[in-house]
Amino acid sequence: MAVIGKKAVKKVSTPKIKRTKLLINNKWVDPVEGGSFKTYNPATGEVIAKVAEASAKDVDLAVKAARKALESGPWARMDAADRGKLMFKLADLIEKNAEELAVLESYNCGKTITDARGDLVGTINTLRYYAGWADKIEGRTVPVRGKFLSYTLRQPVGVIGQIIPWNFPLLMLAWKWGPALACGNTIVLKPAEQTPLTALRVAELAIEAGFPAGVINIVNGFGETAGNALVIHPGVDKIAFTGHVDTAKIIQKKAADTLKRTTFELGGKSPNVVFADCDIDQAVEGAFHAIYFHCGQCCTAGSRLFVEQKIQKEFVERLAAKAKQRKVGDPMDESTQQGPQVSQEQLDKILHYVALGQREGAKLVTGGQRKGAKGYFIEPTIFDGVRDEMAIARDEIFGPVVSVLPFKDMDEVVARANDTFYGLAAGVWTKNLDKAHNYAAAVKAGTVWVNCYHIVDTTTPFGGFKMSGQGRENGEEALDHYTETKTVTVNLA
Ligand code: NAI
Ligand code: MG
Repeated sequence: MAVIGKKAVKKVSTPKIKRTKLLINNKWVDPVEGGSFKTYNPATGEVIAKVAEASAKDVDLAVKAARKALESGPWARMDAADRGKLMFKLADLIEKNAEELAVLESYNCGKTITDARGDLVGTINTLRYYAGWADKIEGRTVPVRGKFLSYTLRQPVGVIGQIIPWNFPLLMLAWKWGPALACGNTIVLKPAEQTPLTALRVAELAIEAGFPAGVINIVNGFGETAGNALVIHPGVDKIAFTGHVDTAKIIQKKAADTLKRTTFELGGKSPNVVFADCDIDQAVEGAFHAIYFHCGQCCTAGSRLFVEQKIQKEFVERLAAKAKQRKVGDPMDESTQQGPQVSQEQLDKILHYVALGQREGAKLVTGGQRKGAKGYFIEPTIFDGVRDEMAIARDEIFGPVVSVLPFKDMDEVVARANDTFYGLAAGVWTKNLDKAHNYAAAVKAGTVWVNCYHIVDTTTPFGGFKMSGQGRENGEEALDHYTETKTVTVNLA
């Protein structure tokens, strides 16, 4: 127990790493070409494990295993209700091992132990939600012309290549596994190279739950090699991707050769709009959480903070006071509010934008400095007096850096909020119902939060307008992206 002020707080201890190989056909295997890569603790920059690195050859083996499981064997013949049962079992096992997984997630990704525990809840909820769907994915009977019976079947898309990022390693896994498994697909998952460890542990739990060989395969490795091999493989029917918009462009071009299905969940530069008639205490808390949750490493981060001019000064002062008090440090200490960024690369990117913002003439109100010489920590940062054309107002920084942009009225702010190629999320703070609903209707974003932010539930569809994505995850909508619809017509004459 460490003692902070008068309050004793718990610091969790370093986890054991149980799995580092590839998982192909329910076997832990070494890569064909024998490669490996290091994975780090972002809080210290130290190497915590060497992990097996998949090449195109391993991806090929994993895809073949997934194809075999899809087309023959117990998974292909399994009743939908039994698929659901397996998924419930996996969720139960994750719940049983939730603390171990949360600690491992914090250790490898740098998120605070408190946030990691929250992610575990989301992960379990997602798997249970889709487990419940497994035997409720129904077709239709269709009143066709003539003496025919037509009905539709909803069948699995096939082998799904899933490529996920490092910011929510387990939650992104669950968002991708949940609907894929419920619909009867098989999976080859490539975790992010920064954060492979929790996926491997959950895959071990999937074997324990009883998933047949080949249904779930894990190929650790890099985007340009293992990821690319999945994208171009003719045996993969669909790629589900979360990450950078430029990576999605590469994937879409390369997937064209095999006309794979793709779904993309990409980033954003989400507008968070504060009207002067808001509950200001609530809005300050909300705007703070919108940008600083998980160090700003959220696709939905409220990074463009539009504040009505009348309250701009007070709002920025209150936000800055909170930022200065934020406890940045060891993510495995329960009293910590902000951990490190995930990597040196991300830290460098953020520091680059802080310098650029100052060069562009924005006012650095607080923060902007790296914290400590070890690990990838940075102070919560606020820029005021930002103009729409500045890079810090246009580019996804993916760090704890908010740009405050003053505005005068609704029409102006809606036009400016929509002046971006992104369209993932948006927030609005007002006590006026008309304003709230008018903004919600007018803003081009897949998710709009009114007097709240970052409320994401597995039951509601999530995804992007414009270049923030294609398709939807979560909710019933995700099932559409993991099934092919087949029409069967029977001659009754
Ligand atoms: P990234 O898009 O390069 O990586 C995401 C995943 O894609 C990783 O698993 C990676 O190995 C894989 N990948 C990379 N290149 C690939 C390729 N050519 N073919 C197939 N797979 C490939 O993102 P990165 O480099 O980790 O982060 C860069 C920026 O991307 C961040 O600063 C942030 O702006 C954004 N980002 C957005 C996320 C979101 O939640 N929407 C998540 C992570 C990053
Ligand atoms: Mg990248």
